[in-house]
Amino acid sequence: TTPCWEANADLVVVGTGVAGLTAALRARELGLDVLVVTKEAADGGNTRWAQGGVAVVLGDIEADSVARHVDDTLVAGVGLCDEVATSRIIGAGPAAVDRLRTLGAEFDRDGDRLARTREGGHTAFRVVHAGGDATGAEVERALLAASRDDRVPMLEHHTAVDTLRTPAGEVAGLLVLDADGVPGILVAPAVLLATGGLGQLYQATSNPAVATADGVAIALRSGAPVADLEFVQFHPTVLYTGSGARGRCPLVTEAVRGEGAVLVDARGDRVMAGVHPQEDLAPRDVVSAAITRRMAALGDDHVYLDATHLSPAEFRRRFPTVLAACLRVGVDPSEAPIPVAPAAHFSCGGVVSTVDGRTAVPGLYAAGEVARTGLHGANRLASNSLLEGLVVGARAAESVAADLALGLPPERRLAACQPVPVLPVADRDTLQRVMSRYAAIGRDAEGLAVVGSVLDVSAVDRPLETRARVEDAALTLTARAVIAAAAAREESRGCHVRDDFPGTARSWARSLTVRLTPSGQP
Ligand code: SIN
Repeated sequence: TTPCWEANADLVVVGTGVAGLTAALRARELGLDVLVVTKEAADGGNTRWAQGGVAVVLGDIEADSVARHVDDTLVAGVGLCDEVATSRIIGAGPAAVDRLRTLGAEFDRDGDRLARTREGGHTAFRVVHAGGDATGAEVERALLAASRDDRVPMLEHHTAVDTLRTPAGEVAGLLVLDADGVPGILVAPAVLLATGGLGQLYQATSNPAVATADGVAIALRSGAPVADLEFVQFHPTVLYTGSGARGRCPLVTEAVRGEGAVLVDARGDRVMAGVHPQEDLAPRDVVSAAITRRMAALGDDHVYLDATHLSPAEFRRRFPTVLAACLRVGVDPSEAPIPVAPAAHFSCGGVVSTVDGRTAVPGLYAAGEVARTGLHGANRLASNSLLEGLVVGARAAESVAADLALGLPPERRLAACQPVPVLPVADRDTLQRVMSRYAAIGRDAEGLAVVGSVLDVSAVDRPLETRARVEDAALTLTARAVIAAAAAREESRGCHVRDDFPGTARSWARSLTVRLTPSGQP
């Protein structure tokens, strides 16, 4: 028999990053009974690694406006952003940042107002930051402190496996593994996926080990559509620590370029000169693709970021996190250019969701990186993601409160223990190797088909009895969804660069949606 334990709530939040914690706090304010689940310790997610900051127009800088922030986002998204969703999320940004400051988050100051920096694709200095380049760490600290003060119930080291569903397909809770791997059920009429991203599909990523696409897989298996998954954003500059770097690579924030640093190749030639009018501060997809092309042309596996114009004191004050990472590999950024290369960073696509966090499946909600609200289109504008997590996280909680107030069929409060599912699980190293080789920047039909064939051979049906199996099943399913979308989109746009279709086609100015077939294939 399946060992089983049970807990109940109005809302189960999966994930303890910016979106999940914001949602949990707002849900408590609204009187909901909330339970938060995370497979790591509560601060183990991706939010705390965010460096650059939060893009927001607070109204104290005359030359900037919400409309301009929206325009920059739409330009970066290369025709695929949902304009209404973009305006609503960015328009709600100032209030969301004010709320976060009220909770105790401290942003860096410049005299009597907040300091601002600039990142790729922004036409104004509008990115607020904390601790120089440790914005995510401060956001996570403040939200966790508030959650602890508010005694938000939290199950750490618990892995979300799958939703529980009524015969009509509505969500009625979540199947999880506890810290010892014992399956249990959280019976709840609302489950919010705030599980973050999918960087672990690739060998080199800025994301920590937890970013294994869990939420995308759970949503697909629950019947929710996903969209824009072909747009995996590669950050232009993670620290290059030697050939064959694997796992989480330290980020070198774009704000270093915002403060005047430039990309150069091994010969000392500028990478971005003549490539784009904004040069080193072009949108991120443009910079990553240009670096990839330059590395291929020279047969190199990295380029350099020259920040030697900043004095040692200035670098230390603005970029203490980057400085510490550089010093660990023996590079002093004030003396020598920093070796850097692109790495998988952010999923622009995800579970199709409204700006209020609703998905197509009753009872299933999504917020943060796992959600596809239409804000990012084909390429996310830098520092829009913490903002999205703050805005949509709070709204998702409000949606749950409103939906529950309408009344529920009784089966949404009843669920029986069930065995863990048996699903295809591929070998993770093999999957990461073929995704990095054939489904990163520069893809073609042949290479994407190779990924599919390798997954066919490597994947074996296994019961999801451990966290590693749950993660590997999520990576396997999501890799299939990414390559299905990438193969279908026969053009290059934003983060999706096809070597066999280098041009951007007007007929492709639309999002691609992926669902599971009855046999469980995307
Ligand atoms: C960075 O600091 O460069 C990353 C910011 C982001 O991904 O939005």
